[in-house]
Amino acid sequence: LSGDEAIRRMSLEDLDQVMAIEEVSFPTPWSREAYRREIVANSYAHYLVMLAGGEVVGYGGMWVVLDEAHVTNLAVNPTRRREGRGKRLLSALIELAAALGAERLTLEVRRSNQAAQMLYIRQGFVACGVRRNYYADTQEDALVMVKEGLRTGRR
Ligand SMILES: CC(C)(COP(=O)(O)OP(=O)(O)OC[C@H]1O[C@@H](n2cnc3c(N)ncnc32)[C@H](O)[C@@H]1OP(=O)(O)O)[C@@H](O)C(=O)NCCC(=O)NCCS
Repeated sequence: LSGDEAIRRMSLEDLDQVMAIEEVSFPTPWSREAYRREIVANSYAHYLVMLAGGEVVGYGGMWVVLDEAHVTNLAVNPTRRREGRGKRLLSALIELAAALGAERLTLEVRRSNQAAQMLYIRQGFVACGVRRNYYADTQEDALVMVKEGLRTGRR
């Protein structure tokens, strides 16, 4: 992490800033209520925020169930992209997943989302399947990607 950056768990107080990024990052943003429930009511959910100068500049989350973890969301403020923040957030999720006992981390990504796919490939994810018409908003396919061996140090 660079000088004024920090990564910590997301809390309810972060939601104004998280929602501002969410709404400009996804075609069908999650609602504030969805995030609130993830934080207060879903014991499988783990959400992190990245702070820079005290401000939320990105966030990511996952569900961890026994030895499987699944990334639900990852976004960086559009004005702060391409400076390694997505990569650092994803690394933090990978480390947390491993610490919580996950062997593998899976995710879905839009077929057209080249930026995210490049990020995932560079972090050791491989494409392992396709879910046809997965995204209801555009009927776009999802690529399913997986990173295996989280706990055996194969990064
Ligand atoms: C995907 C996202 C989180 C990446 O965040 P970021 O901070 O820009 O990512 P990084 O700077 O760490 O980039 C890491 C690598 O990913 C790849 N990458 C990131 N953005 C890219 C782009 N626009 N085009 C091509 N490759 C890209 C590059 O390989 C990059 O490494 P490099 O900069 O050394 O070439 C960000 O673009 C985002 O919030 N997108 C909208 C939400 C989204 O699509 N989330 C993923 C849903 S599955």
